Amino acid sequence: MMISPDIKSEVRDRNDIVDIISSYVHLKRHGNNYTGLCPFHNEKTPSFSVNQRDQYFYCFGCHAGGDVFTFLQKYENMTFPEALKFLADRAGITLPEVEMTEEMKRNLSRKNQIYDALKAAENFFYQQLRSERGELGKKYFASRQLTEETLHKFHLGYSLQYSDALVNYLRKKGFSDDIILDAGLAGFSERDGLYDKFTNRVMFPIYDQAGKVIGFGGRVMGDAKPKYLNSPETAFFEKRKNLYGLQLARSSKAKQFILCEGYMDVISMHQAGFTQAIASLGTSFTPEQAMLLKRFDRDIYLAYDSDGAGTEAALRAIGILRQTGMVARVISMQPYKDPDEFIKNLGAEEYQKRIDEAENGFLFEIRILRRDYRIDDPAEKTKFETEVAKKLCVFSEELERENYLNAVAEQYGIPKDSLKKRVISEAARGGLKTAQERVQIRPANAEKKSSAEEHAKYAQRLLLTWLNEDKSCFARVREYISAEDFTDPLYRKIAERMFADLEAGVFRPVEIIGMFDEVEDQEAASEVFQTKLATEVAKEDKEKALRDIVLRVKQESFDRLSGSLGSDVSALNRVVEGKHILEKLRRIERI
Ligand code: UTP
Ligand code: MN
Repeated sequence: MMISPDIKSEVRDRNDIVDIISSYVHLKRHGNNYTGLCPFHNEKTPSFSVNQRDQYFYCFGCHAGGDVFTFLQKYENMTFPEALKFLADRAGITLPEVEMTEEMKRNLSRKNQIYDALKAAENFFYQQLRSERGELGKKYFASRQLTEETLHKFHLGYSLQYSDALVNYLRKKGFSDDIILDAGLAGFSERDGLYDKFTNRVMFPIYDQAGKVIGFGGRVMGDAKPKYLNSPETAFFEKRKNLYGLQLARSSKAKQFILCEGYMDVISMHQAGFTQAIASLGTSFTPEQAMLLKRFDRDIYLAYDSDGAGTEAALRAIGILRQTGMVARVISMQPYKDPDEFIKNLGAEEYQKRIDEAENGFLFEIRILRRDYRIDDPAEKTKFETEVAKKLCVFSEELERENYLNAVAEQYGIPKDSLKKRVISEAARGGLKTAQERVQIRPANAEKKSSAEEHAKYAQRLLLTWLNEDKSCFARVREYISAEDFTDPLYRKIAERMFADLEAGVFRPVEIIGMFDEVEDQEAASEVFQTKLATEVAKEDKEKALRDIVLRVKQESFDRLSGSLGSDVSALNRVVEGKHILEKLRRIERI
């Protein structure tokens, strides 16, 4: 599309990137910068930053970045013209009639035709269920006790026995074979050409969260295999990124989503009034789905089957949800297998009670873990307690961890103090893995100053120098490092002032040097801004080196702190937080 740069800039200028992104991501302000959890990868501590002054975003974890158009293209899967149109409309700008290249027209029309074919198929299946030929399907749904209202709400349908019913229908409507194939509605054989993918099944249309049909699940009415046949994975139908029922559940007033295992569970839950029910699409719950749900800011209640496989799946989902920063609870369906069965037997009122009593995801994990140990055996009991302590380390916020610790201690009769000590030692152990450094961080004149302490001081000095030389590093560094991490008292003092000034945008090295009355200190402070690496680092390696330096400083501060831990709670808090930061630093290449 030929879009003049002026139009593009105008549209960009009239849509503040912070406004746009904050309607999807919860952002916190730090000066010019806003930070939050990255919507493009799964993380628990924010590495996603939006720069308001320069109107761009960047993720230090996954390196996604760009302007407001890029954001919408990535996040909403829009094409550039779609993003442009969306933002122009939003700002009340009328776009000039634009010229599309032939290829763009083709692609756009292709995409629309595929959606149209899916929509037409949905209609076709829906009509068939209501025709004479749909008798079998109707009977089947009646046997599952679905009402007419429910059938309509989920647009359930039926695919005929003939193997070319849908293909013929779509061809008559003018869809080309290519489109029918690409929509995942037909297969192809040399002998017969196109044939219907779904035959003689009750049909469950699957929607994206905006309510567009993207695929189908088709269930056999008897015991044949496979029980469900699903549309094949395509660019339009990505199972790991969508959830069954979300287009309805998103407008439910409930304060949670109920995540079920199957289509039928979702449907019978909705029929019983639980319109907050959703399910993944025939695969296990994915981080992408968790990210999608996170936008709605609700807790997730799991209603997985109560068998071994369901428990395994619940444990996995709890882990994913926690990593995404969401609270999970587990609904007990005992003595029944799934929500469908439960509601049929005990009714909606009883189910509501189970929702109200749902077990906290973490406590559920501990309860399942507990089954593996014989608590009457002291050795086993110790192992169990150690595992519990390890698990408690996942909470980096003190209050949260404290609450879980108390709950677990009470439930399993473990003395709180001893559990707390164990958490401290587990946290310290986790943080002490050796760092992999790629750049040799050592003083230039290595023979003279070679003590461990000198090495540590050197890394701290180097970090301050780099921050002075390239102030743009600060935003990235501050995510990992605070002034407290400088173990040398003088450097800590400098860092305190320097960080505050950088934050306020008024930093000048002379001011720092001027803070000190003693010449000796003034000299030491000057040296801080003059530190050089032993070997010159190529420009493109600088970012990696920066990560290594940050890691070194953090490690030193962490080791120091965890080595001197008493029962000081705020120090413990910092140790646990430090452990998380170290783990993160080790995972990333550059900051
Ligand atoms: P279930 O077998 O529990 O199905 O599989 P269900 O939805 O509860 O249906 P009923 O009550 O037995 O009729 C759970 C989910 O796993 C996927 C589907 O998404 C299903 O809803 N699945 C299952 C498949 O994709 N293919 C299969 O063959 C079976
Ligand atoms: Mn089921």
